[in-house]
Amino acid sequence: MLTYLLITSIVVIVVLRFVRFYIKFYKNKQVLQRAPAPPERFFLGHFNVFTNNPDRYKLFISSISLTFADHIFARIRLFSKKYYPIYRFSTPYITIANCLEPNDIELVLSSTKHLSKSKIYTILTPAFHFTILQQLLNIFNEETSKLVDKLLEKNGKIIDVVPPITNITLQSIAETAMGLDNINESTQRNYKDAIYKIGAIFLKCLSKPWYRMDAVYSWSKLAKEESAIVKVLHDFSNYIIKEREKEMSSESHVGTYSKKKRLAMLDLLLSAKNDGADIDYEGIREEVDTFMFEGHDTTSMTISFLLQDIQAKVSKYASEDFTTKTGYDIPEGTVLHIHIFGVHRNKTLYPDHLKFDPDRFLPENVNARHPFAYIPFNAGPRHCIGQKFALLELKAALCGILRKFKLEKVDDMFEVEFRPDLVLRPKKDIKVKILTRL
Ligand SMILES: *[C@@H]1O[C@H](CO)[C@@H](O)[C@H](O)[C@H]1NC(C)=O
Ligand SMILES: *[C@@H]1O[C@H](CO)[C@@H](O)[C@H](O)[C@H]1NC(C)=O
Ligand SMILES: *[C@@H]1O[C@H](CO)[C@@H](O)[C@H](O)[C@H]1NC(C)=O
Repeated sequence: MLTYLLITSIVVIVVLRFVRFYIKFYKNKQVLQRAPAPPERFFLGHFNVFTNNPDRYKLFISSISLTFADHIFARIRLFSKKYYPIYRFSTPYITIANCLEPNDIELVLSSTKHLSKSKIYTILTPAFHFTILQQLLNIFNEETSKLVDKLLEKNGKIIDVVPPITNITLQSIAETAMGLDNINESTQRNYKDAIYKIGAIFLKCLSKPWYRMDAVYSWSKLAKEESAIVKVLHDFSNYIIKEREKEMSSESHVGTYSKKKRLAMLDLLLSAKNDGADIDYEGIREEVDTFMFEGHDTTSMTISFLLQDIQAKVSKYASEDFTTKTGYDIPEGTVLHIHIFGVHRNKTLYPDHLKFDPDRFLPENVNARHPFAYIPFNAGPRHCIGQKFALLELKAALCGILRKFKLEKVDDMFEVEFRPDLVLRPKKDIKVKILTRL
């Protein structure tokens, strides 16, 4: 009798959940109806838009041997071209509005509704103040000169620039933000491995749409793999925090300045915690996770691409119903995707869009453009805290390398193919021939 009751109530709960999903699905679809969308299926909507029948799109995809990651990327690029300025994905459990137009992007990114700047952001802002950046420059230069020494051994050879560049960006973020001088190579390797594996899991989840339902995913083998990798990443952050705590307590002037008189971001968090601020160890670890990842992988990919544009998607939820500048109604709860890559490659906004042309950023050209047509660091109230840090690191690395070496192109920039991951990565090595300047 009890078992019977239990089973009945589980069935009822499941059915009710499905009904709720579907009511929301159809309601949202009705509101978003005017926004175009790729072909969808009855009942499932775009549930398997990335996995179903690739042949349907083969007209648009030239290469035949597409891996799944390429396939997703190609489809997103295709949809962006076809459905400008906005298109939707509707599935029973999520509705997504993909925004492609600068005015709409401005509306989404500038909205301050339900946006409270977090306390942590306030604590950390001094770590990225421009007077501190001057001190950071020394670290960037130090790391760059170590790299230049390594590259000297490779004079005249063709190298893949990604691994050595990732090495210096990782060392730089560890030293500048965490106050940690040296992370040994095996620890570095484990960390980078884990980052790559998490990226692979992220892609696998996209290839199995049912994994996007937590209730299903949490029982999968992949979820177990994920938690093992996440543990590696958390251990790395915990190790960094422990090391820094040890060093801080052994320094004579405990406080926000480390022994080299640098204002490390981690020091600020740890001393804020000691002073009774409203952050705990877990909160600090999350910040370390974020900064270590975003602080090295983004910049290393940018420098790597430069030595021979980054797609970033800002997810954000619609906190209430609104209408876009281009006239589409967006229901509350819709996930908003901003296609930065698409905007940056729009031929109307950027004539000869694949050409490396720094003149695009002359003041008169910038002023002639919509301010939200160029948003590598996001914009509005949630712009990237590390923008100045990243630009300084880029300049330091590029100047340091170019002062010493002449780089010869091996592949054409037009031929660089991208692989979507947590950040956009090059599909193959980025090869350059390095020659010392005489
Ligand atoms: C680029 O932007 C223009 C309007 O500014 C639009 O008409 C066009 O469809 C866009 N192209 C792509 C490929 O997104
Ligand atoms: C990474 O950088 C560290 C410190 O500068 C150096 O000891 C190590 O050899 C570098 N590894 C690679 C693969 O460049
Ligand atoms: C590298 O550092 C980690 C963490 O402190 C340590 O466990 C490991 O033994 C070190 N490995 C080497 C080769 O020094």
